[in-house]
Amino acid sequence: MDAPPPVPVTVRLATRADVPAILDIYNHAVIHTTASYDLEPVSLDSRLAWFDHKVDGGWPVLVTVGGGGVTGWATFGPFREKPGYRYTVEHSVYVRDDCRGQGLGRALVDALIAEARARGLHSMIGGLDADNTGSLAFHTRLGFEPVAHFRQVGHKFGRWLDLIFVQLLLEPGSTAGSGTRLDVAP
Ligand SMILES: CC(C)(COP(=O)(O)OP(=O)(O)OC[C@H]1O[C@@H](n2cnc3c(N)ncnc32)[C@H](O)[C@@H]1OP(=O)(O)O)[C@@H](O)C(=O)NCCC(=O)NCCS
Repeated sequence: MDAPPPVPVTVRLATRADVPAILDIYNHAVIHTTASYDLEPVSLDSRLAWFDHKVDGGWPVLVTVGGGGVTGWATFGPFREKPGYRYTVEHSVYVRDDCRGQGLGRALVDALIAEARARGLHSMIGGLDADNTGSLAFHTRLGFEPVAHFRQVGHKFGRWLDLIFVQLLLEPGSTAGSGTRLDVAP
């Protein structure tokens, strides 16, 4: 029998009402994994302030939504603060643990790539824990390349953590990222 057709993924801009679900997805990763180097769960107030700061800065916060609500989120923001870095952004992507492997992460990062291209950006960077082999495989599938490996820059769960940077150059003609740009104010 043929496999069922893939379920279409809805990616949209997040609203403030999505922040509790964004927080739940993030805190699950904080508590159980080294995907984030936060050590303690983040409060709702802090995540609301984070969201407001993102929106005020004109940075995109995207979510995927399904039957059970928000299933994933992604964003980018400045890589480093000095103005010479203005064409480079650093992104984050988190998919609810029971919704992985369904193309949601790809849909989110494709939409971020489209947004970055539309803004005339040149480079996207992701910071991944070196033990997070799933995220490394994911980013490699999307065209990112590992470009830096920092030894023992993090410490969580009683051990030193290595951090990998992956990078995508948004060169004209590159096929990485096929998402449609959302209506995001610059
Ligand atoms: C990394 C993460 C975002 C991937 O999201 P996802 O929705 O499961 O990924 P997708 O289903 O869109 O997969 C896209 C591609 O990556 C590959 N991929 C995804 N996870 C993978 C894994 N663990 N191992 C190998 N390949 C993987 C898929 O096979 C797929 O390839 P294909 O399109 O060629 O078939 C998700 O696992 C996650 O949220 N992890 C925890 C948080 C995290 O580590 N975030 C990154 C740090 S910012």
